[in-house]
Amino acid sequence: MAGSERRILITGGAGFIGSNFVRFVMHERPRWRIVNYDALTYAGNPANLADVADDPRYEFVHGDIRDRDDLVHALSGCDSVVHFAAESHVDRSIADASPFVSTNVLGTQVLLDACRELGTIERFVHIGTDEVYGELPLDRPDLKFTEQTPLKPNSPYSASKAAGDLLALSYHTTFGLPVVVTRCSNNFGPYQYPEKVIPLFVTNLIDGQKVPLYGDGLNVRDWLHVIDHCEAVLAVLERGELGEVYNIGGNNEQSNIKLTHTILDLIGCGKDMIQPVEDRLGHDRRYAIDSTKIQSELGWRATRSTWPEALAQTIDWYKSNESWWRPLKQRTSPTVA
Ligand SMILES: NC(=O)c1ccc[n+]([C@@H]2O[C@H](COP(=O)([O-])OP(=O)(O)OC[C@H]3O[C@@H](n4cnc5c(N)ncnc54)[C@H](O)[C@@H]3O)[C@@H](O)[C@H]2O)c1
Repeated sequence: MAGSERRILITGGAGFIGSNFVRFVMHERPRWRIVNYDALTYAGNPANLADVADDPRYEFVHGDIRDRDDLVHALSGCDSVVHFAAESHVDRSIADASPFVSTNVLGTQVLLDACRELGTIERFVHIGTDEVYGELPLDRPDLKFTEQTPLKPNSPYSASKAAGDLLALSYHTTFGLPVVVTRCSNNFGPYQYPEKVIPLFVTNLIDGQKVPLYGDGLNVRDWLHVIDHCEAVLAVLERGELGEVYNIGGNNEQSNIKLTHTILDLIGCGKDMIQPVEDRLGHDRRYAIDSTKIQSELGWRATRSTWPEALAQTIDWYKSNESWWRPLKQRTSPTVA
């Protein structure tokens, strides 16, 4: 598959991970053609892919995954789908769950039906999240999420993502649609919308503003560099077994307070720049991913998620790309975490 010509429809390719994936695939698989199908919500940004916009191998289609007719048209001639499009910010799902159910559940179903109707899709990679597993206790560092861990999502975001995962898998079982599901831990890297914790904190500090830290700061996340994630998705697209789920993690657990201290150190700010804020409702305590399956079956390994070097490089990217994030930041309250 790697050397052959393919035409891939990527949903949500104008967002953080999707745009990194488009650029990564165009570099790694120069004979492939990419259709980026994106509704350009507040999180979708054509500037994320300005460097490839004129490449003849790349096509942008402004469309919504809830629109069947637009989808069928865009999918014509495509042999694979990588489905990133989603509402992705937990805090927004707590404020209003409706767009999350609409895009992440209904939109996924419309997309699955469009693929089924066409009958030409050889592979459908559904991008999920580790948050569908719920939370792990802080006092059991030996426990990690495996693909067998029961789903127990705690936020409207993760519940809507779990519903999308299960719909995708059901289309494999019921209709034989060639679905593979991935479940990934927290990503960091370039082009992440500055409402998410790392770009929010970095851009606040560049502007001399404090960083809002939830609750006691002890919540733990497993941080993965976005290009490590892109490599894993490409491996699943090319070699993943149909009907299977693959967990993807960075083996890089950090508490929010430790993450904050590292960012403060790397930027040269003191702890007085931390502004404690009331905890997020239903805030999951700990996520940790067991990536044994994708490592042993597909030979994937995270190689770019070394801490704090990869975090320092990411901070440098935001320092060097103020013209990218300033217009976004003006649209977002600097204290939203
Ligand atoms: N960011 C993370 O740390 C992380 C971790 C694990 C999994 N994921 C999953 O990866 C995927 C991408 O996440 P992200 O952080 O890049 O998200 P993002 O919010 O940066 O981008 C989402 C993209 O989807 C598009 N979109 C939203 N609704 C749409 C619709 N109805 N139709 C078409 N396009 C629509 C947006 O315009 C945007 O370009 C999501 O499915 C998310 O659940 C993210």
